[in-house]
Amino acid sequence: MERRNVGILGATGTVGQRFIQLLAEHPWFNITWLAASDRSAGKRFEDACSWKLETPLPQRIADMIVQPNVPDGSSTELPRIIFSSVDSDIARELEPKFAAAGCAVVSNSSAFRMAADVPLVVPEVNAGHLEAIESQATRQSFGGYVVTNPNCCAIGLVLPLKPLEDRFGIEKLFVSTMQAVSGAGYPGVPSLDILGNVIPFIKNEEEKLQEEIGKLLGSTDGRSFRYSDATVSAHCNRVPVLEGHTECVSIKLRTPATREEIIAAWQSFQPLSGLSFKLPSAPARSVEFLEAVDRPQPKLDLMRGNGMATTVSRLRPCSLFDWKFTLLSHNTLRGAAGCAVLNAELLAALGKFNFKRFPPVNANFASQDLVNA
Ligand SMILES: NC(=O)c1ccc[n+]([C@@H]2O[C@H](COP(=O)([O-])OP(=O)(O)OC[C@H]3O[C@@H](n4cnc5c(N)ncnc54)[C@H](OP(=O)(O)O)[C@@H]3O)[C@@H](O)[C@H]2O)c1
Repeated sequence: MERRNVGILGATGTVGQRFIQLLAEHPWFNITWLAASDRSAGKRFEDACSWKLETPLPQRIADMIVQPNVPDGSSTELPRIIFSSVDSDIARELEPKFAAAGCAVVSNSSAFRMAADVPLVVPEVNAGHLEAIESQATRQSFGGYVVTNPNCCAIGLVLPLKPLEDRFGIEKLFVSTMQAVSGAGYPGVPSLDILGNVIPFIKNEEEKLQEEIGKLLGSTDGRSFRYSDATVSAHCNRVPVLEGHTECVSIKLRTPATREEIIAAWQSFQPLSGLSFKLPSAPARSVEFLEAVDRPQPKLDLMRGNGMATTVSRLRPCSLFDWKFTLLSHNTLRGAAGCAVLNAELLAALGKFNFKRFPPVNANFASQDLVNA
């Protein structure tokens, strides 16, 4: 695979730092451009960023200069692949401009997740949805496009749901989350609010989780999406855990399934094995099932599959629905940057990083022009 230059928009943030960690030594991608807010632009990256990860900031990245948050479509220095991790309001304004400048925007933000022609993708679940980029106005005119990955809880949840949907069908789902503080970005929830406490409200989170599962498990004709009609009810809670979202799930299936059949569906879930390329960030198993009664736990199971697997345990009968289980997923790896990197690897493998020449700068391209809403 040809090594391609990439940029990170929002590089100084919680997810942006994970992007740097995952991409600094990536075999297919090479970081050549970093941008953040006007507060950071023009500074050495090390001076603009308060690095919070356990691995050291690579010196080459530390010395890079943070660029302004605008695409310069005439410049050969702007990479054609932009990983985006900025707040939704900022993404709504900026991402269409990068797409109009001819870039593939691989986004973490919720701004365009539910747009009518923007794929919302977890590679193991709905890789076929990526075809919808060909309908985007910017793709047709300038070669650029936007692809999104779901909310952090939706990513962890949809991985074990997908094989159950395929084999038995999902009629109803109840999920209650316990979400880590890193999910709120940096500096996030004040320590005096979260230490020794549980906060039973995360703005817009329940709505996102409910609607995104419908799009992820739905189908596409390559131009538009048909949502799954599974009913999803979510409770979302912030808990004093640093990394790792835990979710308690009760599920009603359309066709009855035994415990053994459900476990077999999870253990045989290998949807990427048919690809001609092995995606470098794909875990050996996307769903890891444990029999232990007191797992999964963030302290013990967070890094399964290099932080890219959903760990599932406690599968038992449910007196309201059919079955219930508990899952754990790493919110800033699989739940954010890791999923976006896997999406980009899939786009590369599918030949979706073939572009037209850079178009003229079109800084006024508005978000409503991007989507066929
Ligand atoms: N944290 C998670 O677990 C998680 C999971 C899934 C999705 N997400 C989504 O990912 C996005 C980023 O989240 P985060 O947790 O990384 O947030 P964060 O830690 O607050 O980082 C925000 C980043 O955006 C930059 N920024 C702010 N204003 C900007 C502007 N006008 N133009 C360009 N860049 C600007 C900041 O740069 P400065 O340093 O210069 O201010 C910083 O790099 C959000 O949409 C969030 O919902 C987060």
